[in-house]
Amino acid sequence: QKPKVIVSAPLPADLRERLAARCEIVDVPTGQNPAETVPAALREQIVGMVCTMRTKVDQALLDAFPALTVSSNFAVGFDNVDLAAATRRKVLICNTPGVLDGAVADVTIGLMLCLARNLVAGDAFVRSGEWTKGAFPLTRDIRGKTLGLLGMGRIGRVVARAAHAFDMNVVYHNRRQDPQADGLATYVERDELFKVSDVLSVHIPLSAETRHSVGQRELALMKPSAYLINTARGPVIDEAALIEALRAGTIAGAGLDVMEQEPLPAASPLCQLPNVVLQAHVGSATHETRRAMIDLAVANLMDALGNKTPQAMVNPEVWQARA
Ligand code: GLV
Ligand code: GLV
Repeated sequence: QKPKVIVSAPLPADLRERLAARCEIVDVPTGQNPAETVPAALREQIVGMVCTMRTKVDQALLDAFPALTVSSNFAVGFDNVDLAAATRRKVLICNTPGVLDGAVADVTIGLMLCLARNLVAGDAFVRSGEWTKGAFPLTRDIRGKTLGLLGMGRIGRVVARAAHAFDMNVVYHNRRQDPQADGLATYVERDELFKVSDVLSVHIPLSAETRHSVGQRELALMKPSAYLINTARGPVIDEAALIEALRAGTIAGAGLDVMEQEPLPAASPLCQLPNVVLQAHVGSATHETRRAMIDLAVANLMDALGNKTPQAMVNPEVWQARA
């Protein structure tokens, strides 16, 4: 009898075939609660799961699936997981680091260029015929300016490399000074990062410690000419404080691929602010990158069930304890 696994993520046909050769697939529509969709008798037999960040892997889910041994996230972020609860229950958590770094960095750079050069408003200016009445207002160079990276993990490093092609000075702050940042970016203290950056980009994961860690105090440290970019997780920034700062001119603008509430309703004040560029959490959302992510997520799941060390584990201590 094949091990039973939940699939609650979009799975390409060839990958489904490969997984089905080794496992019995129980489909749960993406984002729906597996504890509510899978019948009780079947729940007790589920040993693995691949899911998106819309599935809350919390104590209630772990209780509903007593035989679960591995949950593989189709995402690099794992703030949908109660990691302490999973580790206590010896459920291995996997994720997809590395394969999306370039795609997320590209959106970061894109947002920076949109903000500094006002490219989104420029498009509307041409379409509406405003151009026939006069020239578009002058914008700002990014060349020679300072990019500050809050967080210097894999994605931060790719952004730093890209910024060098735009002749930017790159500084960063991280919990630890990172030898891998040598030659890419200069370490600065946290307050200093907010003070010196012309563009400040967030590349830290969401956790209890980082929730609202960019708030009124940090925004007040920033230059009135500075832009804030977030392609990480919305709740890392105190959104109410950001909206206030954007209205008051405390900072010049913001580029957001992530928000506290997703999907963002049109009624959000963010949608009314002219100095904001918004994207629909699309950092990793290309055909190529999403394919690489689902490949990795399914490989992690199959490896874990086949007693082969998965490539990307969030709580490797669970795996080591099994050996
Ligand atoms: C996307 O947000 C991810 O965490 O992969
Ligand atoms: C993940 O978000 C990373 O920067 O490694």
